[in-house]
Parts: sequence; C-alpha cells; structure tokens
Amino acid sequence: DDFSGEGVWRYSAGLPFEEGVSLPEGHTPLHEVPRLREDLGVNRLRVKHEGMNPTGSFKDRGMTVGVRVAEELGVDRLACASTGNTSAALAAYGARAGLETLVLLPAGKVAAGKVAQASLHGARILEVDGNFDACLDIVQNLANRGEVYLLNSLNPFRLEGQKTIGFEILEEFRDDYGTFPDRIVLPVGNAGNTAALFKAFRELVAAGAMDADEVPKLTGVQAAGAAPMVEAIENGADEVRRWESVETRATAIRIGNPVNAPKALPGIRETGGTAVAVDDEAITAAQRDLAQEGVGVEPASAASVAGLRTLRERGVVDADEDVVCLTTGHLLKDPDAAYEAGGDPEPVANATEAVLEHIGAK
Ligand code: F0G
Repeated sequence: DDFSGEGVWRYSAGLPFEEGVSLPEGHTPLHEVPRLREDLGVNRLRVKHEGMNPTGSFKDRGMTVGVRVAEELGVDRLACASTGNTSAALAAYGARAGLETLVLLPAGKVAAGKVAQASLHGARILEVDGNFDACLDIVQNLANRGEVYLLNSLNPFRLEGQKTIGFEILEEFRDDYGTFPDRIVLPVGNAGNTAALFKAFRELVAAGAMDADEVPKLTGVQAAGAAPMVEAIENGADEVRRWESVETRATAIRIGNPVNAPKALPGIRETGGTAVAVDDEAITAAQRDLAQEGVGVEPASAASVAGLRTLRERGVVDADEDVVCLTTGHLLKDPDAAYEAGGDPEPVANATEAVLEHIGAK
C-alpha cells in the first residue's frame, strides 16, 4: 500500500518520516452540529470526530508514526498500558507491521469493543488487578529493562502523529470560515493530545503559518472522578498530584496520573485556555446530544461537549466564540454505555398486527 500523502501523511513536512505503517488514518470529519450550536449558544461549533479513524480512535494517528519508528529500530516486541483505545490501535498497527504486541489493561475497566479489537488483532492481553496508572508503571519498567518498546504517549513519536489533529482542524476551519477557531475543547486523560496540539500550534507560529495571537485556547475536560489536571489548573500548581483512586463511566479517561502534564499544563496556560471537570450524568447527556445530531461517540469523547456546556453556563466561554470540540472515540467502542445512554429494545410478538398495535398505529 502506498498511503504517502494521505491523511496524517499529508503533513509529512511536520513529521519525522515521509510515510509510516498506515491503514490509512486521519482526514476525519469536522462535523457541523447546528442544533447543538444553537443550544449551547456559541458563534460557530464544529465537532472533529476522531472516532472515524481506522480502529475508531485518534490513537491511530500516533501509531502510524510510532510503529514506523519501532520498525526502524528493529525492536522485537511492542507494548502499552491502556484504558482500551491505545491497545486496540497498537494491536492493529503491530499486526500490520508483523510485530509482536503486548498490552496491559486494568481488569474489568475496559470497554468491550476495545478488548475485542486487541484480541482479534492478535495482541497478547494481560489484565492487571489495578488501574491504568499501575499498568503504565509496570510497562515503563518493562521498557526500562529492554523487554519491550513502549508505545504509550510518553513516546514522543506518538505525539508527532497526533499533532496532525491540530493541523487538520486549523486548515479546514480556515478553508470554511477564513479564520482559525478561538478554542479547542478536548477530553484529557494522560494529556497527550493536549501536549500534541500545543506543539502543533508552536510549530505553526514558528513557521509563520499562524500569528501567536491566533492560537486557539486549549481547553481540557476531565471526568469529576479522575480530574488531577483540573485540580492543578484551579490551584495554579506547577505539578499535578497523582490521584490513587479514580472512577468514571468514561473509562477511557479513568486516569489519575497524567504523564504528559509537564507538556500539557503550559499548553493550557499559555494559550489562555482552562480545564474543567464534568460528572458522569453530564457526559451521558452530551453523548445523547451528539447522537441526536447523528454523531456517535464513546463517553470520554462526549466529555468535551459536556465541558463546553459547563463553561458556557459559567460564562467562561463567550457567546461570540468559534469552538471546535474533539470527539476522540467511536460509539461502538463502548456498546454497554451506548445502551445505557440510549434505551432498551422493546420485545414484540412475531406478527404484523401485534407490531402495529405496539407502535400505536390504527
Ligand atoms: N478520549 C479517548 C477516547 C481516549 O481513549 C483517551 C485516552 C483520551 C480521550 C485521553 O487522551 O491521554 O491524550 O489525554 N486513552 C488512552 C488509552 C489512555 O489507553 O487508550 P489523552
């Protein structure tokens, strides 16, 4: 396959290679959501749906670069800790490259679709009796001992690929409206995307492609039960305190120790952005709001929209702002959450008359 020049690789000038291990990835939709825009009361609102990548999350953008690097290095075994999506992407891209993959997952806390992907793509799946942060501690130790090549977002090549989310948003927004968005709202777990977007903006400013005062305000959203970045922003702290105990239905961002915080905190502060926590009810409501516009996302992704609503209510986001919300993963990643947010099927008899009666037809 030759996917050079497509999707993520359209931006190879800003990447370490001309092409990667590609399925291909990137070039995701920037949806208009007119009813949601009206309801939230902002000037413009677009949804960058990263769930439309090959394995259903933005992680593919990082893996196409990261697994290429692993090939260059000639490593034997790829590994990651994951709340699910990273493991699905690593399993698929590792398979594509013909490399062995090992993934460490927090037992019982990963959505069904993600485990299914890792399994079918042939990763060796280890379920750890602990949360994501514990899994990442272990896999870092394995990497330090030379047993595995680490493909979590601590790997800077992952973030190189994820910069292209920023490139695509800015390019498409300017093509459509002649300006850049005022703000980008995104869910935060390990804060890899926050760091990657900030790096993308800095590079564009350095290259003269964007003025410093045009950089969008990076606005991070966490689940209330796993919000150490929000705590650090609210306290004006330079370091993020690790939360040992975390809980949220948005299992993708059930993370207490955001390892990219040193790169991400300056990104939020220097762009004039902020961070906000939302509870699980607000996440589910936002998941429904997006679904009613035809955009199907997993709970963590909906956190971006829930966060925007909270910040509008608090008057932190102004009515005249142009906003892009990032939705990071596809609805089918977490079918159980979708059923809970939606509704159950109604059993009905195997007869036309019974169906007509059931739906209240005459
Ligand atoms: N949204 C989804 C759907 C995710 O899977 C993740 C991270 C995030 C948001 C947070 O992104 O870490 O860049 O701040 N998932 C990782 C994983 C941790 O293992 O799949 P971040």
